[in-house]
Amino acid sequence: MTGKRNFSHPSWMLPENQATPESVFFNRRSLIKAMGVGSLAAGSNIFGALGTAQAAEDPSAGLYPVARNENYTIERDITPEELNTTYNNFYEFGSHKQISGAAQALNIRPWEIEIDGEVEKPFTIGIDDLLKKMPLEERLYRHRCVERWSMTVPWSGFALSKLVELAKPTSSAKYLRFETFQDSAIATGQKQFWYPWPYIEGVTMEEAVNDVSFMVSGAYGKPVAKQMGAPLRLALPWKFGFKSIKSIVKISFTKQRPVSFWETLLGSEYGFWANVNPEVPHPRWSQVNEQVLGTDEVVPTQLFNGYGELVAHLYDGMEGQELYR
Ligand code: MTE
Repeated sequence: MTGKRNFSHPSWMLPENQATPESVFFNRRSLIKAMGVGSLAAGSNIFGALGTAQAAEDPSAGLYPVARNENYTIERDITPEELNTTYNNFYEFGSHKQISGAAQALNIRPWEIEIDGEVEKPFTIGIDDLLKKMPLEERLYRHRCVERWSMTVPWSGFALSKLVELAKPTSSAKYLRFETFQDSAIATGQKQFWYPWPYIEGVTMEEAVNDVSFMVSGAYGKPVAKQMGAPLRLALPWKFGFKSIKSIVKISFTKQRPVSFWETLLGSEYGFWANVNPEVPHPRWSQVNEQVLGTDEVVPTQLFNGYGELVAHLYDGMEGQELYR
């Protein structure tokens, strides 16, 4: 990625025929070659080693692994951890996929999460106190990026509905607005002034309390890696991946619909709903198929990414394609 390219078009805003770094990494064999490592299974790369170091120093390490919730298992193979931890979107650390080294600069303790807005009483809670209060479980989720790649991830964490209960929103709360940390001294991507930092995302209250909405604190049976959004991120598997905001420091309950980072930057392409739908193309590429990362498979995209039975009712009565943008 060149600086010039980053200036006007972050990687996933590129027309697909220009998205060469992604296509290189679509194929596991190419990945191994590009990383210059002999075997993914051996976990012998530097980032795997960094992940292990993080797990050792993380005060929450003892909480994992947690029991799997069998309601959320899927037919696909789990994406190899080495791939999932070395192919990431985390623009705070750079507008390309190889940010795992840079993300190790993120200091995840102490880490506080502020809860404010339309709640009985705003409060701030440390991540370890929060984790003690929440019923942790593991869920296997599909993870579908708007760029057309997908993974399968064993996330650990808790239902977002449990955090909503803890927050005690008032009846005027209609949306949740999530905010990522901001510290350009360590996250040098945040020096790119043309992005509207900090990263913001939002959901409706109905979406938040639906059981599929999941707060992630772990993955692969240990604390979630920094490059994947430690110490707390969202997973909304029926929506495109950009809705699943990483490294959250603030959750506000609002009356107004929040405007997200990507919506501010390019609202005509990255809207509020962003529900996965094969029939609604991105304005610059098709969403009919997806590449399963770590394999050579290209498979059909599923409506709501396969979670329709659980989430389609949230959109009853809402018409028009804007639901999926
Ligand atoms: N959250 C923050 N704070 N910054 C980001 O750049 N990228 C999003 C989302 N959450 C992003 C973020 C996008 S585009 C995707 S596809 C997923 O994180 C990627 O998650 P992964 O790296 O764990 O696959």
